[in-house]
Amino acid sequence: METKFFPSLLSADFGALQGEILRVQDLVSGFHFDVMDGHFVPNLTCGPPVLACLKSRKIFDVHLMISAPENFVESFARAGAGQISIHAETTRPAKVLQQIRDLHLPAGIVFNPNTPVDFDLCAAADFVLVMSVEPGFGGQSFQESSLGKIAAIRERFPEKNIQVDGGINFQTAAACRNAGANWLVSGSFFFKSEDPAQCAKEFLQL
Ligand code: DX5
Ligand code: ZN
Repeated sequence: METKFFPSLLSADFGALQGEILRVQDLVSGFHFDVMDGHFVPNLTCGPPVLACLKSRKIFDVHLMISAPENFVESFARAGAGQISIHAETTRPAKVLQQIRDLHLPAGIVFNPNTPVDFDLCAAADFVLVMSVEPGFGGQSFQESSLGKIAAIRERFPEKNIQVDGGINFQTAAACRNAGANWLVSGSFFFKSEDPAQCAKEFLQL
């Protein structure tokens, strides 16, 4: 499976988001755009108007950590999302996955660390995102328990793209890659690194 790398803009300089994107876009697969509503998770970020202002040659991978994703997927599609993931812990995830696919975008299903994997939801999604930290904040430590989850999904779905998000550095990324994840998200490790371009290259070589 092809490795892809998505820097999480949550750890970028929000005062210079477009510049951050231009600086690294040629070396990454797309940009992970974290959306939080202060309800599903105890933090707030930004919505479709911000995404609509950003331009890139690469896709925006929109991760919706919000309680009612059904009310926003269309706005995010119009704002330029290239793919959208929603959480299994929300009210009617299967319906929202279909809503995203009806907008002609790849739809991802996300599982929090304490949420057991639902294989039916995985089957209904174009890709699966395994959270390796509790969602809400960047800079947390990787939870090893996510490795077993990744392996179980990979065993059941040999061809599906599996993304991992939270506490990803070279070491944890390699472990996730070995367990079967092929899409890597990294926020603080990537944006704090001295040479993000080189960092992206190394992630993509895993
Ligand atoms: C956490 C977000 C992540 C976050 C990852 O709730 O979903 O995408 O940006 O940040 P790091 O890589 O710092 O754990
Ligand atoms: Zn995320």
